[in-house]
Amino acid sequence: FAAHQFKNEPLTDFSRGQARDDMRRALQDVQAQFGQDYPLVINGKATTTRGNIVVRNPSKKSQTLGTVNAATPDLAAQAIDSAKRAWPQWRKLPVGHRAEYLELMAAEMRNRRFELAAWMVYECGKPWKEADGDVAEAIDFCMYYALAMRDLTHALTCDYPGEENQTYYRSRGVTVVIAPWNFPLAILTGMVAAALVTGNTVVMKPAEQSSIIALKLFNIARDSGLPTGVLNYLPGNGEEVGPALVRHPDVEIIAFTGSRAVGLEINRLAAEPVPGQVSVKRVIAEMGGKNAIIVDNDADLDDAVQGVVQSAFGYAGQKCSACSRVIVLSEVHDIFLERLKAACESLVVGPAEDPGCDFGPVIDQEAQTRLHDYIAIGKEECQTIVAGDVGKLAKEGFFVGPHVFANVEPESRLGQTELFGPVLSVMKARHLEHALQVANSTPYSLTGGIYSRSPKNLQRAREEFQVGNLYLNRGITGAIVQRHPFGGYRMSGIGTKAGGPDYLLQFLLPVSICENT
Ligand code: NAD
Ligand code: ALA
Repeated sequence: FAAHQFKNEPLTDFSRGQARDDMRRALQDVQAQFGQDYPLVINGKATTTRGNIVVRNPSKKSQTLGTVNAATPDLAAQAIDSAKRAWPQWRKLPVGHRAEYLELMAAEMRNRRFELAAWMVYECGKPWKEADGDVAEAIDFCMYYALAMRDLTHALTCDYPGEENQTYYRSRGVTVVIAPWNFPLAILTGMVAAALVTGNTVVMKPAEQSSIIALKLFNIARDSGLPTGVLNYLPGNGEEVGPALVRHPDVEIIAFTGSRAVGLEINRLAAEPVPGQVSVKRVIAEMGGKNAIIVDNDADLDDAVQGVVQSAFGYAGQKCSACSRVIVLSEVHDIFLERLKAACESLVVGPAEDPGCDFGPVIDQEAQTRLHDYIAIGKEECQTIVAGDVGKLAKEGFFVGPHVFANVEPESRLGQTELFGPVLSVMKARHLEHALQVANSTPYSLTGGIYSRSPKNLQRAREEFQVGNLYLNRGITGAIVQRHPFGGYRMSGIGTKAGGPDYLLQFLLPVSICENT
């Protein structure tokens, strides 16, 4: 298999002075580019509109990075038309040729690694290491899917006396990619790369909050020589332009990653045929999580505290994989809580530009307000263990300090809602069965973990923990392409695993041909 040759992109080691200098220079260079107005790009043509998205630095809300022209439903239809017209040529290209475009994109991302990371630091409040990891994952997606697609070019044959039989894969057509802001380069690149390498053409709708880094991706793809119209850049307001994209009769695939509410709405809308539509649309939807870590009575508590803190507060808890609930067995509950409190109190919250911060701001005002509301609920309904105060940072950017609540009822709002911020709920369990029952008691099934020294209990978690990605004795974020194919089920998703061997199949049509010989 070609995919066996795949190697993950190494992460940057910021303990090296050279790497820190490179990153500081990139931050300065990017800052010098603030204030520009960015157009949409449809069929290779830059287009401006009347509406625009003002992109702000979440660490410093008075700082505007630029403005991005926002698409209208009419422009969405033009973008789909452009992708439709580009498809017949694109799908005919040999697979190796399409895969080379992805490899060229990956090479350019490698060259511009610090610059891309710097844009994410400013646009999405990602700390250095997380932003660097985002670029590495984007490179991995390009390289992995380029190899994985080569493996799918061999037609499956099953001959029989008197007939020759082949099954092979065809592209489907126009693909709408709708992406979130929290892995603004990696997830967008993953969906776009998968669609392109399988021979589909793409309308790319990034999240409003991460439209500039998405344009960087578009430019990298265009500069790799991608034919005009094969990829179209369509930033815009999701509620306005999203339904126009999803409902369009010429769309074959919708590849979405984002919240449960939007994913379900897309699934519903895509299921209703509209005049002129000839296919049942394929919806790939990766959605939210309410992920739990179980801490067993015999767990290594130092490891458990570290893994929980990193999983709950990395990127301010704004990962679909983040730990939002920790379920602690009763014998170690109090001692774990004490150590967790101490660890949380030493977390440094600060501007994402500052390499010394453990985590930065949340994405925007709406997220800050929503989290403050849930923190107020936590203070009222639960026991407050940590209530991190961000002081004057709260006025400068969208900062929320780390919060930990104990005695959280599993069925309560705090226990069930995906908060998507630095807020952790602690629950006490009587025994492992109870812990697993609580862990499985939300509608989500994305990530989960257990810290235990008992092989029997680890085995039980393997069998009964209802998650797409289970982690034993480690944190629950940071899935790595190929090593940890990523994705959930139940209300967390309906796609197969991103970065895994089955992912590309969702973008393809299997066709069988039988010849009488
Ligand atoms: P979101 O659902 O608000 O937005 C995602 C995208 O959908 C954006 O591009 C947005 O503009 C668009 N959109 C909004 N309304 C739409 C509509 N009516 N029709 C079509 N498109 C519409 O999510 P977000 O805030 O960008 O991201 C955070 C969410 O994403 C969290 O729930 C998180 O768990 C989830 N997520 C899941 C995964 C995964 O792999 N399962 C990965 C990352 C993020
Ligand atoms: N793939 C990302 C992680 O595992 C969401 O953290």
